[in-house]
Amino acid sequence: MKKRIVKKVPEINVPVPTNKEDKHEDLLRNTESGLGETLTTNQGTAINDNQNTLKAGPRGPALLEDFIFREKITHFDHERIPERVVHARGAGAHGYFEVYEPMTEHTKASFLQNPKKRTPVFVRFSTVAGSRGSTDLARDVRGFAVKFYTDEGVFDLVGNNMPVFFIQDAVKFPDLIHAVKPEPHNEIPQAASAHDTFWDFISLMPESAHMIMWLMSDRAIPRSFRMMEGFGVHTFRFVNADGVSSFVKFHWKPMLGMHSLVWDEAQKISGKDPDYHRRDLYEAIANGEYPEYELGVQIVAEKDEHVFPFDLLDATKLIPENMVPVQRIGRLVLDRNPDNFFAETEQVAFHPGHVVPGIDFTNDPLLQGRLFSYTDTQLLRLGGPNFHEIPINRSIAPVHNNQRDGHMRQTINKSRAAYEPNSLGGGCPFQAGADMAGFVSYMEKISATKVRERSEKFFDHFSQARLFYESQTDIEKDHIVSAFRFELGKVEVPEIRERMVTILNQVHPQLAERVAEGLGLSSAITLLKPLNRSVPADGKPADFQPREIKKMLKPSPELSIVRSGLEHGSVRTRKVAVLAADGCDDTDMDLLLRTLTAAGAQAKIVAPRLGYLQTEEGKSVKIHFSLLTASSVLFDAVYVPGGDQSVALLTKDPCAREFVFEAYKHAKAIAASGSAVQLFQAAGVLNGSNTPDDAVVVTEKGSSEEVMSRFIAAIEKHRNWEREKTLRVDLQPVSAPTRKSA
Ligand code: HEM
Repeated sequence: MKKRIVKKVPEINVPVPTNKEDKHEDLLRNTESGLGETLTTNQGTAINDNQNTLKAGPRGPALLEDFIFREKITHFDHERIPERVVHARGAGAHGYFEVYEPMTEHTKASFLQNPKKRTPVFVRFSTVAGSRGSTDLARDVRGFAVKFYTDEGVFDLVGNNMPVFFIQDAVKFPDLIHAVKPEPHNEIPQAASAHDTFWDFISLMPESAHMIMWLMSDRAIPRSFRMMEGFGVHTFRFVNADGVSSFVKFHWKPMLGMHSLVWDEAQKISGKDPDYHRRDLYEAIANGEYPEYELGVQIVAEKDEHVFPFDLLDATKLIPENMVPVQRIGRLVLDRNPDNFFAETEQVAFHPGHVVPGIDFTNDPLLQGRLFSYTDTQLLRLGGPNFHEIPINRSIAPVHNNQRDGHMRQTINKSRAAYEPNSLGGGCPFQAGADMAGFVSYMEKISATKVRERSEKFFDHFSQARLFYESQTDIEKDHIVSAFRFELGKVEVPEIRERMVTILNQVHPQLAERVAEGLGLSSAITLLKPLNRSVPADGKPADFQPREIKKMLKPSPELSIVRSGLEHGSVRTRKVAVLAADGCDDTDMDLLLRTLTAAGAQAKIVAPRLGYLQTEEGKSVKIHFSLLTASSVLFDAVYVPGGDQSVALLTKDPCAREFVFEAYKHAKAIAASGSAVQLFQAAGVLNGSNTPDDAVVVTEKGSSEEVMSRFIAAIEKHRNWEREKTLRVDLQPVSAPTRKSA
């Protein structure tokens, strides 16, 4: 009889890795693949029949005795845990962080000292409002949470892809989230802010005006997690070894540039591939195209705390980069996909309160509330107080304390003394002096009266919202206007729309007028004053109304995607659809595939059906997607090679014509060579043989090096935004209709 194979070295619970700084090795202690192994119960008993329950006869009832069935079903019945109350939808990746130069002058954090040191990280990107299974493409803030497994403990930088927030005080967070989540009576809409309760709340909370501008901008529909900025949002503190502190704002700058989608495109991707961002991240890492970001810091000396026309403790304000430049101090590389989504991406528990010596908090009232909220919610979500022992959350710095027991405790603490001070345990574990990396809270001097109030500067709700608007290019302003028209257009209660327009009027009268016009509202609405209804019961409403600090803020190019200098990237990793059918031109196809591959782009063949297509010269080319399974919204650019038979087939197909037209409509680079120019004409992209703009590359002669370099240059620019202006009637100023004479 064949003997059951019993592994000599158990994969689970092997001793702590020798290289303590290798998180991957640490995770391997709990990793198993089942490859080559016998199927067993959770008790290790080998299972002989996984196809039938134990029954009283082949047609009889199931027997309670069937421990194999009971265990399997019971485990299955308990597989789900609560999703995160916010940021439920996310995707994660492993990687590492390296600092460029020692940051000793500002902070003693050990992971920011040695350029030779690689600190392991786990990053989770997310949307905020949608459920776990919702679309990646919602107009929403993206979470950008980074867990650094440093040798002095875990540091979590739990940020977003926007540098400000909706509210100033954490006590309003449940209100904000209740307003944005699906409405409670019918649980509609999923993953969308375009509904009454959200705008009802926002229209009564002028402090959210700045964040709303970011949310209505293209930042809320990133092309990829790999192509967006990240921000720590709050002002934190750096503290150096001498105990000297400075204020710090954290930034992440994407090395692939910053790019966004078009709203119409985002909505369509939600149907075609709701996992678009998750897939993009996963595939890039699997293909060895590791996403990279630089860590930036804005440092403000403690003595300069009050020199700004805004309060550094107010999370609805940013420090413009033209006031305090961002210094790039290190890089983050994401180079490994998780092995198991649940074990890693779902169970990871971030917390802004996970800090290491050298990093400390400020009194930002939003941050202070967050310091309570995360552990509290994780106690429920992860089922008890021992979630720090879950492998993805486990520190690589050793953990020793007198905390004991609780649900699912893994650690077997040997000492008899679970208290401190003790003599029975030799006084261990003992406290660490500051010179031994013991955490010492920054000694901030505070002399105050206990009050429920905010400082005066917090009430300037519009200056930075205006700064943001004024820093945008015209096309970005158009997108903001359209976004407001869309969102408020979905609002059913007219008073809410009107209240919002009055708020927008405080941001910028031109913005308010254009939004009012799109909503069919009279511009007289803009004359009304918005009201802050977020007033304590005994507060005087007048004391709580917005007031501007009259200090001009100069438009800051970094606030605009187009002006930031981060817009123009490379074609690396960009997905190009090669739309073709049987009989396509060999020379065009060869040159195209060679050039795109050499540039690091991904060329994907899209054809009327799957399988292989035959070129004019009879070569077989693998088809990646059919017109049924793909759509131009899933690509950055489209190229149609020539070949009479191929082009004739495509021109007949409305899906192919739509493919080309949609790419054109979304301002993408599109190119056609040889007879493919006819498809462009049939799709309505070309009027005769006139090319509308630089990003429409056509050549009746067939492809050439020169054509390819024009196409690549157009992809590098990401989109030709100017084209949109000519296409969108809704963005043209309304002119009075001319009366027909009787
Ligand atoms: C600047 C403002 C904020 C930022 C940047 C932010 C960022 C984030 C991010 C990135 C996550 C997802 C973490 C993950 O991927 O697991 C998250 C989750 C969460 N946030 Fe915030 N948040 C902010 C404000 C707040 C506030 C004010 C509260 C409450 C007072 C709060 C409560 C939560 C909760 C409860 C979760 C779910 C955590 C979990 O279940 O693991 N957040 N937040």
